[in-house]
Amino acid sequence: MKRVFIQEVVTRDGFQAEPRFIPTEDKIRLINRLSHAGYAKIEVTSFTSPKAIPMLADAEAVMRGIDRVPGVEYTVLIPNLRGAERALAVGVDEFNLVMSVSETHNQSNLRMSRADSAKALGEVISLAHQSKVAVNISLSTSFGCPMSGMTPTHELMHWIDHFVDQGVRGISICDTTGMANPRQVTEICEQAQSKHPNTQWTLHFHNTRGMGLANALAAVQAGIVRFDSSLGGLGGCPYAPGATGNICTEELVHMLDLMGFKTHMNLDLLLECAADLRTLVDRPLPSQVLLAGKVDRLYDKICQS
Ligand code: COA
Ligand code: ZN
Repeated sequence: MKRVFIQEVVTRDGFQAEPRFIPTEDKIRLINRLSHAGYAKIEVTSFTSPKAIPMLADAEAVMRGIDRVPGVEYTVLIPNLRGAERALAVGVDEFNLVMSVSETHNQSNLRMSRADSAKALGEVISLAHQSKVAVNISLSTSFGCPMSGMTPTHELMHWIDHFVDQGVRGISICDTTGMANPRQVTEICEQAQSKHPNTQWTLHFHNTRGMGLANALAAVQAGIVRFDSSLGGLGGCPYAPGATGNICTEELVHMLDLMGFKTHMNLDLLLECAADLRTLVDRPLPSQVLLAGKVDRLYDKICQS
């Protein structure tokens, strides 16, 4: 059965909108445990403006503090050249650039037009190539935007073509506020992969409308082998109204493993980390598997009604 690569985003997408600051040492401890769970990549933090994302103002300290476990790629989100320079100074395996397919969301999130973002990111890509750092770009609002509606597929394809031409290694097609449906996912995954078969494709779903795992299933059936997901289902962009959590890592792994896909993930360790995460954020997490346990959890009592 097919190998599927899981990429953790909890300490970046997951934490960025949390209301209470999570101490640097807790972030480091969590990443160090997750590094032994079988991930292909961990998105550790973002080198964004600390005014825009105060939760991740400790990006340098976190990157310097974590263990780098061989076999795991440590990536970071980068919005501009300043962020790229900061990331280079601490050493990262990959720059994960970000821009939105929706003009409105790009203005809200990055305070510039898509054209200005693309120009600035062109300089960042050149810097990455010179510095021999791999480049991925996350295209936010690829399926829909909470301010401008469903995203026309030709606009998404335009930006995909643009960044493939610029020589990025990978592209993440991101459903920032859970507006994608499985049929749309199938069409877009087929189109993107057939046009650019050598690009490393990632699908990044949020479960805002309960379609997250259905979308992941549609994507894997369309040939996608990389997924972003967040422990406990935490997550959401603070500059996208109505945003909620990413698809939940332990739910995704639980489903894919049961279906026979090879994720090479340690699900028991994920569940332990998710239980600790619930304590760290001090509220219930939207993780059904954390609540119910894996399918092999058996009860020795007969329920009396
Ligand atoms: N790292 C640290 N500081 C940065 C920075 C970076 N990458 N980019 C800009 N800054 C600082 C500037 O030095 C300036 O600081 P000052 O006010 O002390 O002089 C301040 O931020 C404003 O700079 P400016 O270039 O005018 O940026 P902006 O205010 O228009 O913000 C972004 C642009 C892209 C930096 C900001 O919107 C951002 O970080 N957005 C990230 C959003 C995000 O991560 N969303 C969730 C993920 S999808
Ligand atoms: Zn996201």
